[in-house]
Amino acid sequence: MQFKSEFLQKLSSAKKIVFFTGAGISAESGISTFRGKDGIWNKMKPEELANFDAFMRNPDLVWEWYQHRRDIVHKAQPNAGHIAIAELEKYFDVTVVTQNIDNLHRRAGSKKIFELHGNIERNYCVECHTFYNLPDIELTHSAPKCKNCGGLVRPDVVWFGEMLPEDQFSGGEKAAEWSDICFVVGTSAVVYPAAYIPLAAKRAGSYIVEVNIEPTDLTQFADYSIFGKAGEVLPKILNEVKSSKIQSPG
Ligand code: OAD
Repeated sequence: MQFKSEFLQKLSSAKKIVFFTGAGISAESGISTFRGKDGIWNKMKPEELANFDAFMRNPDLVWEWYQHRRDIVHKAQPNAGHIAIAELEKYFDVTVVTQNIDNLHRRAGSKKIFELHGNIERNYCVECHTFYNLPDIELTHSAPKCKNCGGLVRPDVVWFGEMLPEDQFSGGEKAAEWSDICFVVGTSAVVYPAAYIPLAAKRAGSYIVEVNIEPTDLTQFADYSIFGKAGEVLPKILNEVKSSKIQSPG
């Protein structure tokens, strides 16, 4: 794979880089994306599962669906794309801004991560907001009750109609605005407000590099679109960085 020389130049002078990621980066770990032929929202109705009213109406059904997704995530491993991003921390100030709830960036070793849509490993009580990490809560097929107040415990993920965690969004937006390069990887970039982040980066002068298997809504704004699988393209970018650092030490 030959990369465009303008991109290689940007890469050689960049200090801060951001990876704005979506479900596509975890596809090669065996986790389904949301849209497209095999996407989750093609088979399931978001209003019945990823929605607060649905949870209050039928907590066990929603809990069980998240249990199923947790099982998939726990069996999955970070792939070459997640690992390349973590390894790029040796060469750049890297921030990951992810829409994914699967925790795979952290498991791959990335340190600075903003999670825009929450994390499937965390849960909290809808009444008193006590947080429960996964090992602290008994995982059954019915929604657990809070040990403090008896309220229902829900996954700490953003559902349709809910606000994004403010600190995660503003932290991710700032990192994107300050970045020299903003990589947009494996996302259809159609879900807002998350999808504002690469646009904010662009407006602030960052160089936008999209990595996706097909064109998206963001392609028209990207400075460079690389069409290919994240698990193949990102390790090649890492190799470029490694060889250029070896050729020009310091
Ligand atoms: P989507 O399912 O909308 O998009 C996945 C993108 O990944 C598509 O553009 C695919 O072309 C691309 N893709 C698939 N496999 C790939 C691979 N191996 N390498 C690179 N790209 C690949 O997922 P998101 O954009 O993440 O929100 O969806 C955004 C939000 O919509 C999710 O966070 C979720 C969902 O509703 C909430 O749950 C709040």
